[in-house]
Amino acid sequence: MPTYADRLNLIAPSPTLSLDAKTKALKTSGADIVNFGIGEPDFDTPGHIREAAIKAIRDGFTRYTPADGLLELKEAVARKFKLDNGLDYKPGQIVISNGGKHTLYNIFLALFQPGDEVIVPVPAWVSYPPMISLCGAKPVLAPTLAENGYTLTAEELDRFITPRTRGLILNSPSNPTGMAYGPERLAELADLALKHDLWVVSDDIYEKIIFDGFKFHNLPMLRPELAERTVIAHGLSKTYAMTGWRVGFLAGPEKVAQGVAKIQSQTTSNPCSISQKAAVAALDGPQDEVEDMRVSFARRRDLVLRLLADIPGLSCPRPQGAFYVLPDVTAYLGKKRGGRILADNDALADYLLEEAGTALVPGSCFGDGKTLRICYAVGEADIERGLERIKAALLKLV
Ligand SMILES: Cc1ncc(COP(=O)(O)O)c(C=O)c1O
Repeated sequence: MPTYADRLNLIAPSPTLSLDAKTKALKTSGADIVNFGIGEPDFDTPGHIREAAIKAIRDGFTRYTPADGLLELKEAVARKFKLDNGLDYKPGQIVISNGGKHTLYNIFLALFQPGDEVIVPVPAWVSYPPMISLCGAKPVLAPTLAENGYTLTAEELDRFITPRTRGLILNSPSNPTGMAYGPERLAELADLALKHDLWVVSDDIYEKIIFDGFKFHNLPMLRPELAERTVIAHGLSKTYAMTGWRVGFLAGPEKVAQGVAKIQSQTTSNPCSISQKAAVAALDGPQDEVEDMRVSFARRRDLVLRLLADIPGLSCPRPQGAFYVLPDVTAYLGKKRGGRILADNDALADYLLEEAGTALVPGSCFGDGKTLRICYAVGEADIERGLERIKAALLKLV
């Protein structure tokens, strides 16, 4: 028999997508599950964006586009960066890809290789470490503390830097913590990135989902000299409820964009022509539905936090953005239910799915053993129902 490539052993399937498949299978078989698992807005894509896609189909806009994306869309992305972030990017510094995930993988392929170490502050989004491994580089997980709002301090970062360190991944607001970096903390990290000649990959996909007047910053906004070593990964999935359309984009140094464009031209070619037309409508069109969704997420965050505060022993910092909370469940680890010991957060998540009909993602998927992630991109009635079930199930443990 022919053998398989070793790289298959480097990674496991995405645990959040596996959990979602399990949850949906349970639902299909009739189980009543509240799904706090998958990070997907429950809103529909705004109507004017869908209309732009329908128009693209009617106009016969159904052929290959330039492999790295339509100029029209790159110009819309450039306008977004100017308007939202005060950053100047030319179309040649922008690449459009098939979703934020594809954007990130392309960036890693262009920047990292065997022998490189890439620092990932944890808890972190599930796919950074496997993607870095697939590039042959080594993900170095740098733990952050709840009391620091799950942001990495310069001192912590310094401890993980070696002569092999090539890059640092930042994600603010973060999946899974919902926490975001303020300008002071970012400035400290900027100094170290400059001192050690690091690439910074800034995953800004939750930029627009921020609460309580929090002001979003990334490194190039704060320190213009960081623009030549920062690549911003972004996308439309979360902001515009466009998860299925698969549109992501990067902005960074021209050489990185050219490298990614080259990789993309030999691997996937262009993202869907119709989705790209829809993306232009999303970026250039009215933003009031984006604001409505943001306001809804803010209200839901408040509701989740209020209900969590009512469950003895749970704690979590107050997220400034995204649509996740990551409560510390240490108080319930090692407890028992009917002779079954719930030794770790995986076992606790299994218990809550099977016995309480609530799907949550164990923090272990994000490199953390103490927490469970709740995604509150679901209706308020589900939030109330789900949190009530979680409370009842946790209080049964002895
Ligand atoms: C932090 C983060 N980055 C990137 C992505 C990728 O998003 P997509 O590929 O759907 O655009 C996600 C999706 O869950 C995410 O949470």
